[in-house]
Amino acid sequence: MTKSALDAWFAANRVAILADYYSLLRFPSIGGDPAHLPDCVACAEWVCAFLRPLGFTAELVRGDGSKPPLVLAERPADASGRTVLLYGHYDVQPVDPVDLWETPPFEPAERDGRVHARGAQDDKGQWFALLQGLRAAIENGERLPAIRIVLEGQEESGSGFLAEQALDLRRRLAADVLLVADTGKDASGRPAIVAGLRGVIHFTVTLRGPKYDLHSGQHGGLAPNPAQGIAELVASLHNPDGSIAVKGFCDNIVDPTEAEFALATERGFDENAYRDEVGVFPVGGERGVPAIVRNSFRPTVEVNGIHGGYGGPGSKTVIPTHAFAKLSCRLVPDQSPAHVWQCLKAHFEEHCPRGLTVELTEVTGNEPGFRLPIDSPVTRIAQDVLREVDPRGAVFTWEGASIPIVARLRDVTGAAPLLVGFGMQEDRIHCPNESFSLDQFQDAFRWGGLIFPALA
Ligand code: BES
Ligand code: MN
Ligand code: MN
Repeated sequence: MTKSALDAWFAANRVAILADYYSLLRFPSIGGDPAHLPDCVACAEWVCAFLRPLGFTAELVRGDGSKPPLVLAERPADASGRTVLLYGHYDVQPVDPVDLWETPPFEPAERDGRVHARGAQDDKGQWFALLQGLRAAIENGERLPAIRIVLEGQEESGSGFLAEQALDLRRRLAADVLLVADTGKDASGRPAIVAGLRGVIHFTVTLRGPKYDLHSGQHGGLAPNPAQGIAELVASLHNPDGSIAVKGFCDNIVDPTEAEFALATERGFDENAYRDEVGVFPVGGERGVPAIVRNSFRPTVEVNGIHGGYGGPGSKTVIPTHAFAKLSCRLVPDQSPAHVWQCLKAHFEEHCPRGLTVELTEVTGNEPGFRLPIDSPVTRIAQDVLREVDPRGAVFTWEGASIPIVARLRDVTGAAPLLVGFGMQEDRIHCPNESFSLDQFQDAFRWGGLIFPALA
């Protein structure tokens, strides 16, 4: 199908496409919150019902029913050829702080050409738009590869269930190409083929002190303070130049090849555009290392939240019993999550402030970072298709973010990953007022309409 034929199909079907998109967005499928398990199941069932008329056999994989199910679907090839496995996630991030939403997070609302809702982009909008493109190709009688689909409900909380099931499901997931619909364009809006993702490991570190909250006058100067301690512990993670101070953490890091470095840096990094969009200059991380390199090819240790003691109105003179910080680390090849974890544990024990005890809990993630070849047959097909989607053609990017299950899916299925998505910074994923523009939606639709036939 040509791009203009696809666009005509989109225009003719626009009302129905958006109605289905809105139905999908209305499910509050917050996969990390057990209270929303029934919503996740209902959402996954809705997706199966959506896929069946497209010629898929589709079912839920439920395990013992305690976690959000997988959607597993398959459509036979029109002729013998490649098998494509599409991966995406139907779970979404929590919506808090909910009062910052201009319209309720699960009541999709269009404003200025953008659909606002939790999941409008990440990730429901991305794979749903792509599947609409596939629908157009099917209705137009295009020759298609065998297509398998796996949509999980725990990507935003570590992909535990899919990681657990992947080996058992390997025959049903086996494919030549692993098409991932969960990434972004480049900062200027050009389509991007993602050639690397960072891995992730996250955990909670708690410092415990006095048995009960103490009067800060009666005990000040006597009792060690966990809130002060957590600040010191967090501060100990970095050197004054912004580099990571955890011994051994950065062992085995593989620097980008010359070709990767050249492609990653050739477009430069627009610091003012970054500041205009997010409100701060890109001065985080290690001094003297270019912004792109810090984000794409270097690991990080970030504090996601730090809590302890009194936070209410006015003052309360108290030494709290405990304080904690939630941390996440981004990993690059070849940092092994297990080794990194050993280094972190040793660091926290060594730096635990005197008189307090340190506790590490809620350790999740544990997936490595990876890079992909930039000159494979599959990337060449993708480049040709993306030139049709956008005449400027595609660039390669190395994302700082993570999609924890991709490396494992690649290893289990033997498929070559192809990561193309249409997200932009202004979509504000994970943030109140997440949105996806209908232009981005339509680009994802065109990509879906063109890439499946191209992979047949
Ligand atoms: N879709 C994102 C990852 C992403 C964002 C890729 C932007 C490319 C550009 C994914 O849903 C995500 O948020 N991943 C989490 C995983 C974590 C919760 C284990 C992340 O990176 O923090
Ligand atoms: Mn996502
Ligand atoms: Mn996400």
